[in-house]
Amino acid sequence: MAILVTGGAGYIGSHTVLALLERGEDVVVIDNLSNASQESLLRVAELTGKQPTVCIADILDRHALKTLFSQHIITDVIHFAGLKSVSESIAHPLAYYENNVVGTLVLLDEMQRAGVHSLIFSSSATVYGNPESVPLSEQSRTGGTTNPYGTSKLMVEQILGDFSAAAPHFRITCLRYFNPVGAHPSGRLGEDPNGIPNNLVPYISQVAIGKLPCLTVFGDDYPTPDGTGVRDYIHVMDLAHGHLAALDHKDEGEAFKAINLGTGVGYSVMDLIKAFEKAAQTKINYRVVGRRSGDVAECWSDSSLARQQLGWQATRNLEEMMRDAWNWQKNNPGGYSV
Ligand code: NAD
Ligand code: WQD
Repeated sequence: MAILVTGGAGYIGSHTVLALLERGEDVVVIDNLSNASQESLLRVAELTGKQPTVCIADILDRHALKTLFSQHIITDVIHFAGLKSVSESIAHPLAYYENNVVGTLVLLDEMQRAGVHSLIFSSSATVYGNPESVPLSEQSRTGGTTNPYGTSKLMVEQILGDFSAAAPHFRITCLRYFNPVGAHPSGRLGEDPNGIPNNLVPYISQVAIGKLPCLTVFGDDYPTPDGTGVRDYIHVMDLAHGHLAALDHKDEGEAFKAINLGTGVGYSVMDLIKAFEKAAQTKINYRVVGRRSGDVAECWSDSSLARQQLGWQATRNLEEMMRDAWNWQKNNPGGYSV
């Protein structure tokens, strides 16, 4: 019996595969390597001494999924596979809806045919759009997403909700991640973005190592304590363990659940720069520019539902997030390709 992890070679997927193997689960990964390297899974094997079964295929490929489900007894699916760049989704909306929405439909259909009835879906705080107030609880209004990526996540949640009503024997948990950062403390696994990073921590990391000259801070005139954007950064290993907790508690409560995975604490861009400088013992060169279109002033979670329903809460603080992000960057300046 095994757990199927779609997108398991990617950033959050590889850390979750490691956590699953560490607690003795058998794992099958399906990944088309569109945004990942198989090296991540080799390193997972090196760190755990255990090997996940790896299938290099696309979740849109029905035949590949049928074969996979016929060859393994799958108890649960953790579904990370998808495209995640906000800017790319604006330029290529169809690719995003195809991968994220159609991909999930194909997966769900093949799960149903194979009699696999447990799904954990990688959702995002982006489904809350521009928050009316913070912290964001699962009762907060969703919608008003500002890009096709965010809309694709919201659509999938809605589809899963409708599907659950028609198939109540399915257990479905949508985990709404806030801002995943950091890396495995070994420095062997981490985030390896293609090209120039869009996200703050990979960008700061590359400035710290001298790959990029200067961080641009997108706006210092937000109604926040220091004027820069505030987010709920969460260590990727805490996030990985959140998935294990969701598996453990899948049979409790409603058949369809949406649960925030955040720390409940917001930090500003300036807080991150300072914390990273301390971790890396170096100055981060930055300059303030105008706001980035589509950004919200502040976004952080009410994380009490995860505590109540999953018995889970984040345990790693900002210092550990920055320490591990830096450890990964300095040990792997070229990501997985070196
Ligand atoms: P990632 O790009 O590192 O991982 C996604 C993986 O899915 C990659 O390995 C990619 O090769 C694979 N993939 C993509 N399309 C596929 C397809 N059609 N078939 C098979 N494999 C496919 O991204 P990540 O940061 O690990 O994110 C994982 C999930 O979490 C995504 O669904 C993402 O939208 C969601 N999420 C990420 C964040 C974040 O900030 N990283 C925040 C909220 C939600
Ligand atoms: C964080 C803060 C920026 C880069 C995005 C997606 C979201 C989710 C996570 C998947 C903001 C500021 C950033 C830079 C900066 N992904 N910043 N200079 O925008 O909160 O969320 O990733 O679901 O959907 O939108 O994360 O890391 O891009 O930005 O000043 O070069 O850092 O303005 O305040 P964001 P981020």
